[in-house]
Amino acid sequence: MCGIVGYIGWQKAQDVVMNGLEKLEYRGYDSSGIATIFNGQLKLSKYKGRLSVLSKHLEEDPHQGHVGIGHTRWATHGQPSDVNSHPHINESNSVAVIHNGIIENYRELKKELIDEGYIFKSQTDTEVVVHMIDKYLKTSVDILSAVNMAVSRLRGAYALGIISKADPDKIIAVRKESPLIVGIGDGENFFASDIPAILEYTREIYYVDNDETAVISKDDIIFYDKDKNIIKKDKFTITWDMDAATKGGYPHFMLKEINEQPKAVADTILRRIDENNNLILDDIRIDDTQIQNINDIYIVACGTAYNAGLIGKYVIENIANIRVRVDIASEFRYNKQFINDKTLVILVSQSGETADTLAAQKLAKAKGCRILSITNVVGSSVARNSDDVFYTLAGPEIAVASTKAYTTMLAAFYMIGIELAKLKREISINEYHKIVELLKKLPQKVEETLKTEEKCIEIAEKIKNAKSAFYIGRGLDDSVGKEGALKLKEISYIYTESFAAGELKHGTIALIEENTPVIAVLTQDKLLEKTISNIQEVKARGAYTIIITDKDSNDIANYADDIVVVPKVYDLFSSILAVIPAQFIAYHTSIKKGNDVDKPRNLAKSVTVE
Ligand code: F6R
Repeated sequence: MCGIVGYIGWQKAQDVVMNGLEKLEYRGYDSSGIATIFNGQLKLSKYKGRLSVLSKHLEEDPHQGHVGIGHTRWATHGQPSDVNSHPHINESNSVAVIHNGIIENYRELKKELIDEGYIFKSQTDTEVVVHMIDKYLKTSVDILSAVNMAVSRLRGAYALGIISKADPDKIIAVRKESPLIVGIGDGENFFASDIPAILEYTREIYYVDNDETAVISKDDIIFYDKDKNIIKKDKFTITWDMDAATKGGYPHFMLKEINEQPKAVADTILRRIDENNNLILDDIRIDDTQIQNINDIYIVACGTAYNAGLIGKYVIENIANIRVRVDIASEFRYNKQFINDKTLVILVSQSGETADTLAAQKLAKAKGCRILSITNVVGSSVARNSDDVFYTLAGPEIAVASTKAYTTMLAAFYMIGIELAKLKREISINEYHKIVELLKKLPQKVEETLKTEEKCIEIAEKIKNAKSAFYIGRGLDDSVGKEGALKLKEISYIYTESFAAGELKHGTIALIEENTPVIAVLTQDKLLEKTISNIQEVKARGAYTIIITDKDSNDIANYADDIVVVPKVYDLFSSILAVIPAQFIAYHTSIKKGNDVDKPRNLAKSVTVE
C-alpha cells in the first residue's frame, strides 16, 4: 500500500524522505518518487520499480532542497509506470502532490478540468488534485486557501502532502480516511503515513484526524479543523523503538515476528490479570446492565483478522453463550444486517486503518451499535471511533503475512469471551478464576511451541513443489486451518484451501492425488475420531498427510505421514498454539521456493482502499 513522507528543516530533504520511504517498503509498492524545492525551483524524480531504482537516479542527479515530499505507490488507478508514480505536478511545475487513498469522484473532476483546458499526463485519480489546486491558486490569496478549495471538491479517501513554489517554506498535509501523522522535531518537522518512517528522527507525534489540515514549517505546525479553525491537538509519544521495527538479527521480519509471539502474547495477557486471577479489561467499559442488553454480536474484519474472528465466534458462543456472526468487512455493508442498539459489533484490525473495516464501522455506528475494536495500533482510526478498544500489545508488525497480530487477537478473544461469560453468569466465579489461571500459562506454552520449527522445515522441504495443498479440521481446528491456508498461499504461492474435514468428501476430495499435501489440525477431543476418519479418506487416495496436534503422537502415529506435536492446553485455547506450526510451514516453504517472504507479490500490509 502507498506510503508517504514529508520533511522540512535543516537536513537535506532527499536524505530524510528516502530514509523514511525505505522504512515503509514493507507496506508493498510498485513505484516511488520525490519532489523538493530549492532556490525557488521545484524538482521531481519518480520511477516505476523498487526504491533502488529511484536511489540510483538520485545518485546521478541529487536533490539539494530542504523541503520535500516522497511517495511509494501501490497502483489503484493506472498501471505501475513512471508517469503514474507520485508526486504529481501541475503544468507550470509549481505545485507537487502526493496522495494515499482513492479520489472517488475523480472522473467528474477530471472532465471539468479537461473542459477548462487542463492536460492530464497520467491515468491516476491523484492528478485531479494537483490541477484542482492549480485552478484555485489563480483566485486564492495563498496555497492553503487553494488547497482548502480543492479539497472541498474531493470525495473519497486521502492523505495528501503538498508543496508549492508559491510558499516554499511550508508543507501542507490533509487527511480524510487515510492514515497520517505529523512528527515534531527541533528546527525540523515531518509527516508520514506510518510511524516507522520518521521514528529515527522523532518520537513525538500528532495523529491527524479526518478533515484536518496541517501546515508544517520548520519551526511550527498549525492544525485546522474542517471549518478552517485553528485547533490544538494532543501529542503522543511513541514508546517502541526502531529495533522493534527492524529485523533484530533475524533474516526476515516474518520469522522475527513468529518468534516474538511468546512476548506479544504475554504482553497482551499478563498485564490484564491481577493477583487474584481477575481480568482487568479497563478499556472495555460495558457494564452489567449493558451486557444483559446485548442480544447478539457481529465480528467484522478482513483476512487474518477475519480468521481470528472465526475463533472469537467459537470461543464466545461456547463460553458466554451469546450468538455471534462473523462477517467479512468488505461484504458487511452489502449483506442484510440484523443489527441495532442491542448488537455489539467487534471490529478486528491489526492496523486499525483497513478501509473495508472502517466502512463497516461507519455503518454499524449509524445503526446505533456499540462498537468494541481489537487493534494493534494505538490511536488508529478504528480505535478512535470505537466505544471500547482492546489493544493487542504485539508491537509493530512489519511482515505482510500476519503472525503475532493473529495470536494476540486470539488472546484478546479469549479474554473477552471469559469476561462476557462471567458478566452473563454463564460460568461460576470459581470456574472463571480457574480458566484465567490456565490463560496465564499460555505465553509459556507459546514459547514451547516454537520448538516445532525443525519438524516444519522438514515438512516444507516435502511440500515445496506441490501445486496445491489443503488444510482440514473440525470446529476450532477448521478455523485454524483457514489461517494456515491463508499463510501458505500468500507467501509460498501454492494454491491452498481449507475445508471442514467432513465437507471434503462432498466434492473437494476429487482434487486429492498422489502426494497432495493435506494438513489436518487435530486438537478438539470431542471431534478427534471423526477427523481421523477424514484423514484416512485422503491418505487412501495418495495424499501426503500431516497432522498438527496436541495429542500423544504414539496414539496417532499410524494415521499420518508426519506429525507436529504442540503442547496440550485447555481445549478452547488450543488454536493459539496449533497455528504456530502452520506459520513455520508457510515461512519455510516460501524460503525454500526463493520467494520474497516479507513482501509477497501483489500484497500490501495495510489495505487502505476498498
Ligand atoms: C494476511 C494479512 C491480511 C490482513 C488484512 C486485514 O497475512 O495480514 O489478510 O489480516 O488485510 O488487515 P488489518 O488487520 O490491518 O485490518
